[in-house]
Amino acid sequence: MKTIKKIAINTGGGDAPGLNAVIRAATIAAEHRGWEVVGIREGYNGLLFPETCRHGEGLIDLNRKSVRGITHLGGTILGTTNKGNPLEYPVQNEDGSWRTIDLSGELLAKFDEHGIDALIAVGGDGSLGIANQLNQKGLPVIGVPKTIDNDLDGTVVTFGFDTAVSFGTECVDRLHSTAESHKRTIVVEVMGRYAGWIALHVGLAGSADVILIPEIPYDMNRVAEKIRQRYDTSTFAIVVVAEGATEIDGQRAVVAREIGRAEQLGGIGARVAAQIRALTGVETRSVSLGHLVRGGTPTPRDRLISLRFGAAAVRALAAGERGIMVALDPPNVAYVPLSEATSRMKAVPLDCDTMLTSRDLGISFGDEFELV
Ligand code: F6P
Repeated sequence: MKTIKKIAINTGGGDAPGLNAVIRAATIAAEHRGWEVVGIREGYNGLLFPETCRHGEGLIDLNRKSVRGITHLGGTILGTTNKGNPLEYPVQNEDGSWRTIDLSGELLAKFDEHGIDALIAVGGDGSLGIANQLNQKGLPVIGVPKTIDNDLDGTVVTFGFDTAVSFGTECVDRLHSTAESHKRTIVVEVMGRYAGWIALHVGLAGSADVILIPEIPYDMNRVAEKIRQRYDTSTFAIVVVAEGATEIDGQRAVVAREIGRAEQLGGIGARVAAQIRALTGVETRSVSLGHLVRGGTPTPRDRLISLRFGAAAVRALAAGERGIMVALDPPNVAYVPLSEATSRMKAVPLDCDTMLTSRDLGISFGDEFELV
């Protein structure tokens, strides 16, 4: 690999608390090595379509000064996008139908044109999959795993998850008091895409009575039975449902499907609440936390993971590595091949300790289960 003089950093997919801390750590660590650093705005748009970016500028100079005071800020100073994969870029035909085109040739030429020797790509499964393909096409890439969903394989945790769980738990705590005052059941829908990590952790930390996750298709009769039992000894109940959860033989709750982007989930909480009301007669409300769990200040834990990941990505580049993802393997940071980390989603293992603890505490997952 040729000597590095200039690197780029980009952030792709949904934002997550901690992105700015990664940008800061990677920038300063690179500057220490005498490298120049640029940030690409909005995924790869800053290189491919700079005119569409803020102020018509696709690249931002990153240096100690421009990354000052951003560790604690949510979002990403580079902007991000979760549509328009450059390798399968959606283009509309004259008849209104869609096709996708591969813009990787143009994109790699832009990296060359700007004298960028390597990329630190910060993203979730989609963005790191793109990064992996660009690496295979010759661009040296180090991936940094980000997502509130915690569904990336190869790392014990992604940054953003802790902040999402902390805020989600605070919301459930607040809902307890109003549920109790009104003798209501409150159903709380949380993000997480096709994995139940956020719901499981928020539900357990927030003392929910029922947690519904995509990994366990639920039976509404069992959910209703649990709510009735709960009202035998209490006057209210809390249900936490992951946006990707489905009833046995049921359909996922999808808000929208668009060409060139992942389906938009939402609405399962309201559906479950209506079913609880119909089956039990209990006054029930639902609330969807939606993007609230993705915003705001990263927790100290997420900041630390992000800073460690950003610096570790630069160390990997300096050591001549490429095509790998920084990962957390407590107590240390580790590296795994990008191809491996993006090959499958990390679902909640049904026999993990957090699941067993929930079962031991009598939390229902809407399935048939007997304690041993
Ligand atoms: O992947 C992060 C995430 O917040 C998921 O939990 C959620 O399904 C999705 O992004 C929402 O995406 P958007 O911001 O496009 O609505």
